[in-house]
Amino acid sequence: MEQDITIKIIDRDGVSHEVLAPTDMAMNLMEVVRSYELAPEGTIGVCGGMAMCASCQCYVLSDHQLPEMQDDEEAMLSEAFYVKDNSRLGCQIQMTLDMNGLEVELAPEN
Ligand code: FES
Repeated sequence: MEQDITIKIIDRDGVSHEVLAPTDMAMNLMEVVRSYELAPEGTIGVCGGMAMCASCQCYVLSDHQLPEMQDDEEAMLSEAFYVKDNSRLGCQIQMTLDMNGLEVELAPEN
């Protein structure tokens, strides 16, 4: 289907995975990582995608135009560990056609 996009995700062991993500299921990046089990259960998506735990932090490696950060995401990242300039919360990145080819690396576990 045309509605799938390809995303490259580097897991916490440095292994790169190219995965297909649907754009018609209102999924976010954290949920994609979980659905492919690229991080152990309980180490990602702890708050359920509410921008309240930072367990879904990732580093954006490609130069995609991502949606602006909302206040809650910015606040969470200001308290999180291992934050870099290209850090984002995966649960705040929705899978849309614009995200095709996105490359991210999962941040270390807090
Ligand atoms: S899942 Fe908790 S901040 Fe993203």
